[in-house]
Amino acid sequence: MEDTVRFKLNGKPTKLTVDVDRKLLWVLRTDLELTGTKYGCGESHCGACTVLVNNEAVRSCHVTMKDVAGKDVLTIEGLTKSGKLHPLQKAFVEHNALQCGYCTPGMIMNAFALLRRNPRPSSSEVVKEMDDNLCRCGAHNRIIRAIQAAGKEMKGGI
Ligand code: FES
Ligand code: FES
Repeated sequence: MEDTVRFKLNGKPTKLTVDVDRKLLWVLRTDLELTGTKYGCGESHCGACTVLVNNEAVRSCHVTMKDVAGKDVLTIEGLTKSGKLHPLQKAFVEHNALQCGYCTPGMIMNAFALLRRNPRPSSSEVVKEMDDNLCRCGAHNRIIRAIQAAGKEMKGGI
């Protein structure tokens, strides 16, 4: 059923008339051309599609548009401010924490949610929190180091 959905997207008030049962992932990628959020499994298993809704990491392949009405949605595109990479984005580059990069936006968004809750996680805490975000390229150790480095750089800020 089509309806008007109002929400904030990367800080901007947004109003869309959409089928409210459509998944957020496809509205972001197809309607809004925010292709940073990736489609991996479509089954809520891989984490490639992770975005934040009201500061919680969610799998956008399973979130409907009616679920985001009135809420704040943050995507990987929203982390870059005035053309400057976010410390997490910089840390992934500096630590070479990717190969193909397909999992990277979802990893970064899940890590962003983690660092909001726990600004200086131990490596075992990072492993536990990132365990459900899959990387086929095997960049896991570098991803852990990048997240911890970003936490230090951010000093509790976001
Ligand atoms: S595409 Fe959403 S969890 Fe894999
Ligand atoms: S860098 Fe290729 S899937 Fe993670």
